[in-house]
Amino acid sequence: MSYAQITGWGKCIPPASISNDEISNIVDTNDEWITTRTGIKSRRVSHVSTADLATVAAKQALACAGVDGKDIDLVLLATCTPSTMVANTASLVQKNIGAVGAAAMDTNAACSGFLYALQAATAQIRAGMIKKAVVIAAERMTWYINWARRDSAVLFGDGAGAVVLEASDTPSGLLATKTGCDSEDRDILHIENFGSDLNKYEPIGPSNLLFEGREIFKRAVKGMSEACDDVLNQAQLELDDIDVLVPHQANLRIIQAIQQRLKVADEKVMVNIADYGNTSAATIAIAICEAVEQGLIKPNSNIMSAAFGAGLTWAASYIKW
Ligand code: ACO
Repeated sequence: MSYAQITGWGKCIPPASISNDEISNIVDTNDEWITTRTGIKSRRVSHVSTADLATVAAKQALACAGVDGKDIDLVLLATCTPSTMVANTASLVQKNIGAVGAAAMDTNAACSGFLYALQAATAQIRAGMIKKAVVIAAERMTWYINWARRDSAVLFGDGAGAVVLEASDTPSGLLATKTGCDSEDRDILHIENFGSDLNKYEPIGPSNLLFEGREIFKRAVKGMSEACDDVLNQAQLELDDIDVLVPHQANLRIIQAIQQRLKVADEKVMVNIADYGNTSAATIAIAICEAVEQGLIKPNSNIMSAAFGAGLTWAASYIKW
């Protein structure tokens, strides 16, 4: 049986940032409110496209793996902020990284997108359909931001992360996973006035990002914790076997609530929300890269990751590094 080993990783963090104090000059908010409610201190704002962010992260991951773009069979891009819809954004990334002839596909599961994409690419490798894939999560969330709305303006940021997967006999990579979607409540997190359901012959209103924060908070804690329990059962692991928890970075208090529920020690949890805010699908991909850079993730580490986002999609994954 072949596994889908993670052999390379990379990220793209836009250099420009907006601190809480700076955002307070634009909208009626303050550092104290944002910090205590969310744990966010600053967020990155990209001046380049989602495809550009994705390309940098993918090129880094390929260089890290020592894999040439032309040897890649699949470019899978998780994003809810595609640069273009037709043609898909993955096709531009495929071109940029020289993955000549590789399959190229965008996938949108909002904040759960990276774990959904990792599952899809891993399944293809483990089934023997392909040998090498690059899985990218890239978002330009600030493109959606209405800077006059304080509820959403403070929460989101831009960035990208990527991993290279290669067929291998070593039992590693994504070894257990659970993905799902609670669509009955999909309306509690959505972007209004956006998409092909609109009557384009009538004036279209502003496309604000709307959400019921408290309800999402509760659902996210429950959804991610239960998905982790499920994956632990599937993998026949105890929580003590987990070396690193990499949760979606939407709110520090959500992360702490999951950590408490699962009883995971502080030093095992990867948290970088203070610097980047919520970069949707990209949070986990970036956090994995940074956990490796910081030495939190080491060879053979057992990683548990969990995500929750619009849809309401959710996912948990057990990854052996
Ligand atoms: N600055 C100051 N005050 C604010 C701000 C702000 N940026 N945003 C909202 N407020 C005000 C509200 O207007 C409200 O005022 P009111 O009581 O006079 O009406 C008050 O703060 C409290 O608002 P709540 O929504 O009750 O605040 P809460 O403690 O729930 O925190 C938050 C809001 C941070 C959004 C939290 O609910 C949360 O993190 N939810 C989950 C994450 C989420 O929804 N993210 C967006 C979706 S994406 C995802 O990753 C799942």
